[in-house]
Amino acid sequence: MKKIMIYSMLCGALLLLLAGCGKDGSTEGGGQKTLRVVTDAAYSPMEFMDKDKVSGFDIDFIRAAAKEAGYKVKVEHVGWDPLFVEVKVKRADIGISAISIKPDREKSYTFSVPYFISTNKILVPEGSDIKSGKDLKGKRVAVQAGTTGQFVTEDILGKNNKNISKFENTTLAIMELTKKGADAVVADNAVIEEYAKKNPDKKLNVVEDPSFAGEYYGVIFEKGNKKLKKKFDEAINTLFENGTYEKIYQKWLGSTPDIETLKEQQKK
Ligand code: ARG
Repeated sequence: MKKIMIYSMLCGALLLLLAGCGKDGSTEGGGQKTLRVVTDAAYSPMEFMDKDKVSGFDIDFIRAAAKEAGYKVKVEHVGWDPLFVEVKVKRADIGISAISIKPDREKSYTFSVPYFISTNKILVPEGSDIKSGKDLKGKRVAVQAGTTGQFVTEDILGKNNKNISKFENTTLAIMELTKKGADAVVADNAVIEEYAKKNPDKKLNVVEDPSFAGEYYGVIFEKGNKKLKKKFDEAINTLFENGTYEKIYQKWLGSTPDIETLKEQQKK
């Protein structure tokens, strides 16, 4: 009798371990949880599809941070708007997608410490008379919907201005420009600088406007998930300290990151 009881208890424990589905949608196996990470992989060099694999700075970065925090990850390309929904309804544990930390996003999501410095810039055809943000007035501007590129453009042209075309991803916005359906694209500097450099045949220039605010990227978690935030914040700081962050940055951006400014930002 005793034997049977012990046996069934063991079985129960084993079943629990095997099923091991956290209520946050993550799965547990062999003690290490696998977190589901979602992204919009149309934002090279931050995240993009390399054949059928999600690749880029953010992907190397989140893999390194997760490893440091003791998690496995499964990264999936779901698109920009969907990634926010997935994290909100807890179908995903983490969203990483060059997401700028903004007060209104902080109302719905918990952000990690800042891990990347960015600003919006303007991509224009060579010879364009657009030399600054205010020159966008009266021009057709293509942006990715729901990004700070859209918000910066709206600040200049006004909300609901018909000259602003909003696309589901930034690749489509840039295509609109290269096929002359738009006069400019506003998006994060790393992305448009890389595009202009890698596509010299498209003859594009990048215009900088010093009045565009500096932005910081953060990783998003479900609102209030203090445990994941703590683990990842610690892991991110370790990557800053041990040279891993700089290595990943060099690999994808080809320059040295300003880790001091990032760390300074944590004190605010
Ligand atoms: N940093 C900008 C924002 O947060 C744009 C990010 C777009 N990211 C992407 N993977 N498409 O609004």
